[in-house]
Amino acid sequence: MISNSARVPAPSAAPCRITVCRGCCCGDARKVPGVDHAGQIGRLRGAVGEAALVRASECLDVCDQANVMVVQPSAAGRAAGGRPVWLGLVNDDDALADIAAWVRAGGPGLAEPPGVLDLYEFTVSRRVGKALEG
Ligand code: FES
Repeated sequence: MISNSARVPAPSAAPCRITVCRGCCCGDARKVPGVDHAGQIGRLRGAVGEAALVRASECLDVCDQANVMVVQPSAAGRAAGGRPVWLGLVNDDDALADIAAWVRAGGPGLAEPPGVLDLYEFTVSRRVGKALEG
């Protein structure tokens, strides 16, 4: 039997990064009710372990997609052609589990997103995308 750890890439010096928007709409129960916003980052950090750094950001300027998360590739993933993937309406734990499984498998550039995660993906303008890189 192969254990899960045998398939997980070794932690990299430059792992994936997950940016979790916590601006004016994302993370606000009045704007997106019925979601445990306060626990979302902690659950995600627990699920990804060392496979990704999870950070909060201010508004990413795509509030109609709240809650927004951006999965940025690891150095190896970027070298393999991976680019930041914007995910919107991330308001359930199944999506969090899929994001965590994806980065544990390597993330953008190294692994395909599992489950229905591609349905959460959306495209942003170049201006919005560049703001995240800063
Ligand atoms: S608050 Fe998240 S995009 Fe504006």
